[in-house]
Amino acid sequence: MLITGSSQGLGKALAKECAKRGFSLILAARRQEALEEVADSLKKEYGIDTEVVPVDLSTPEGVDTLWHWCKKRQLWPDILINNAGRGLFGSFENQSEVDIHHLLYLNMESLTLLCHRFGPKMMAHHGIIVNVSSLVGMIPTPYFSVYSATKSYVVTFSRALFREWRDKGVTVCCLLPGYMRTGFDAGAGIEDTRYLRLSASLGLEVDKVASYVLPRILKRKSIIYASRGNALLASFLGLIPISWRSLVAKLALKNFVKEKE
Ligand SMILES: NC(=O)c1ccc[n+]([C@@H]2O[C@H](COP(=O)([O-])OP(=O)(O)OC[C@H]3O[C@@H](n4cnc5c(N)ncnc54)[C@H](OP(=O)(O)O)[C@@H]3O)[C@@H](O)[C@H]2O)c1
Repeated sequence: MLITGSSQGLGKALAKECAKRGFSLILAARRQEALEEVADSLKKEYGIDTEVVPVDLSTPEGVDTLWHWCKKRQLWPDILINNAGRGLFGSFENQSEVDIHHLLYLNMESLTLLCHRFGPKMMAHHGIIVNVSSLVGMIPTPYFSVYSATKSYVVTFSRALFREWRDKGVTVCCLLPGYMRTGFDAGAGIEDTRYLRLSASLGLEVDKVASYVLPRILKRKSIIYASRGNALLASFLGLIPISWRSLVAKLALKNFVKEKE
């Protein structure tokens, strides 16, 4: 099993949950030391085989590096979890072009190209691909405009590919978590302490999310939520017209945005 973004947060929790079930793991993210720490502790606790691949998936070289690493060792995962992702919060006009570019590449291009490279290799052995989106993928979200659009892309792409590949032996699942307590807020550049308090109080524990979602992944559910509460919220959101969804999101988030002078 290959899990991107497994040095912390949801990816690390999923790695632990998979290790409990005896899966061998390939862990990928940028920070080698953090990955090795995760790999060593899982190896020690669960006796599984782990490999780490330090890679930056916000650049075109990232996918190549990961692909060639697997090819050289002929280690082809049966399950790929495209979890690596980041957010970008604030007024769109104040976001840097470099940050926007990296966000688009990491959240969409790398995820897409990893499906394109690894998917066909999985067709012969009934593989599973999990693409991690977000509930904000259902809500065009002001101040999270680029991020919510990337997660919307992940939903649309995953749903389409699910239909295309289900008869070819690969199941493409889409996971849509709501708030989780991870390093995500810091990575998205959110500094407002009221926002951080709110997100911490609403946020789900990643260990609970991982134990809730893994059985659903293994049952090959095409859409997976992070909890029963999140599933209910998604059904409710589905009933609201899109223009209202973005208005509600704007009202909820606008007080947390610090405008640059
Ligand atoms: N937390 C939430 O509330 C929430 C809600 C909905 C969806 N999500 C989604 O859930 C997924 C996991 O996020 P998280 O909440 O666990 O956040 P997190 O704690 O910030 O973890 C992100 C992971 O992605 C890796 N990563 C970041 N940039 C990378 C890059 N350029 N190349 C390779 N790996 C990179 C990070 O490792 P390195 O720093 O070592 O690279 C880390 O392992 C993301 O796709 C996120 O969009 C999160």
